Amino acid sequence: MCGIFGYCGKKKAAPFLVEGLRRLEYRGYDSFGIAVSNQGITVRKREGKISLGGADLARVKGTMGIGHTRWATHGVPNDQNAHPHLDCQGTIAVVHNGIIENYAALKRELQDRGHEFRSETDTEVIPHLIEEAFRGDLAAAVGEVIPRLEGSYALLVIAAGCTEMVAVRQKSPLVLGVGDRAFLAASDVTPILEHTERVIFLEDGDIATLSTRGIEIQHGGTGVERPVQRIDWSLAEVKKGGFPHYMQKEIYEQPEVFSLTTRALRGEETPAVLQGIRGVTLVACGTSFNAALLCRYLIEEYCGIPARVELASEFKYYTPPGDYLVVGVSQSGETADTLAAIEKARMHNHPTLAVTNVLGSTITRLADHTLYMRAGPEISVAATKSFIAELAVFFHLVDHLSEGALESSLSTGHLAIGEALLQDLSPAVDLCRDARSMFFVGRGPFYPLALEGALKMKEISYIHAEGYAAGEIKHGPFALLCPDTPVVALCPPGQAFPVMFSNIREMKARGTPMIVIGAEGNQDLQEVSDVFIPLPGGGLVSHVLASTALLQLLAYHTAVALGRDVDQPRNLAKSVTVE
Ligand code: G6P
Repeated sequence: MCGIFGYCGKKKAAPFLVEGLRRLEYRGYDSFGIAVSNQGITVRKREGKISLGGADLARVKGTMGIGHTRWATHGVPNDQNAHPHLDCQGTIAVVHNGIIENYAALKRELQDRGHEFRSETDTEVIPHLIEEAFRGDLAAAVGEVIPRLEGSYALLVIAAGCTEMVAVRQKSPLVLGVGDRAFLAASDVTPILEHTERVIFLEDGDIATLSTRGIEIQHGGTGVERPVQRIDWSLAEVKKGGFPHYMQKEIYEQPEVFSLTTRALRGEETPAVLQGIRGVTLVACGTSFNAALLCRYLIEEYCGIPARVELASEFKYYTPPGDYLVVGVSQSGETADTLAAIEKARMHNHPTLAVTNVLGSTITRLADHTLYMRAGPEISVAATKSFIAELAVFFHLVDHLSEGALESSLSTGHLAIGEALLQDLSPAVDLCRDARSMFFVGRGPFYPLALEGALKMKEISYIHAEGYAAGEIKHGPFALLCPDTPVVALCPPGQAFPVMFSNIREMKARGTPMIVIGAEGNQDLQEVSDVFIPLPGGGLVSHVLASTALLQLLAYHTAVALGRDVDQPRNLAKSVTVE
């Protein structure tokens, strides 16, 4: 949710800013802008995507600058509301990720004192407040203003005539890059990797000063040292590598991601928080929620441990039961609702575990213990390989807690994904591309997959799609079934097969076009399907993994056929850092 990037070094800053913002664009992409300090402050900003219309910004002169790519919260996406924002004199520039909750009161107060505002954003109060506090020492002025700001923010600030950039982190992610005579600041590590693998993760309340001399960090008025850490993601992983879209690349990386994650976890010690657990509450958002829901079926079935799953955004309205372990599942480790849920669990003295993909992310610092997935950087807004990696973590956990129930399938999971990736889905895509509405249905662990299939379809193709537990479809959605509403049914072999097969026949009897994913060679299923997509052999784990890949590819190819912006769907952002 918004990406910020800063460069401070000996070279011209603007090309670094443009490139950095392009890499961060997946965090928000409705407008962009940069501010570079030279004789004064030069600002260039406008509505749109920097990857489509920002090349000219690279011409701005100056060796220190800040930039922003926006996902609008306060004020429509337009040139005025784009960041950076300035004070009255145009000599202090600020970019911001997060929300200033008390901005309305601050704005009125500042207007009463004669400050003129040019945008509708919450952010603009910050440069005006700094303007009042600034007496030549930018870090001191920012430090004076911070206690007045309520909410979440990561800020970068520069001022005309100052050789320093100030970076602040308060409940919004901010990473510093320690390069060779160049220092960087960014919302996440992806734009930093290009320049250095050495990073510093700031803590909430840190105020960092970046200059060509180095980085100094203050916390609560005193200087502090934060460790420099090495990131093991490679630059190749943040490039498209010959694929037309990141999403396709990331789908095709999944066999490796699955193997890497399961292998890595096998070599790790079991977290102490897992010993003797009496119950589990999983909290997550979006795709991570669907993965968590699937985990619940497995934990209860194979480990006999009670498990609940809550949308992280709803968790604050519940009182968490007993002494359950609370597991926060978040690819980015920065989703605001999931962080709030973990904070609440801590307040209630629950043991907490994070499942995340990002080293040093906020959730890793909140939870008692972290299990890392090994998905590598995921750039496409629609999550794919991180879902598979989350499943890999859960399969590992369930296997561990059940003393080996899934062991044999874990070593072959990647093969099932690989086989699914070879399928030609064009007949199914032809059925979906003209639909205005679709349903995805499944039972048991395939119900969360139906939710995930529908989520993928709607977010990137913009076709209205709903995931349903197949048993619920007669309780309402049946009224909507008709020849232009295709249904994707997940019908693998197993306990639910007979009743699922009946459900498919019932839907077919209403003239519904049926896309059925089921066991290879099942004649009965093939006959009732308009399009039949065979699953490779194997058990539950293989069928879950293969079905996931098939649903992702179906959504991907449908979105491509419709000419959608697959990697950056309208209105969405990869990392939702506001509640
Ligand atoms: C956003 C992304 C989704 C993601 C969700 C949760 O909505 O677009 O792809 O599943 O956030 O993100 P997290 O990083 O917490 O897994």
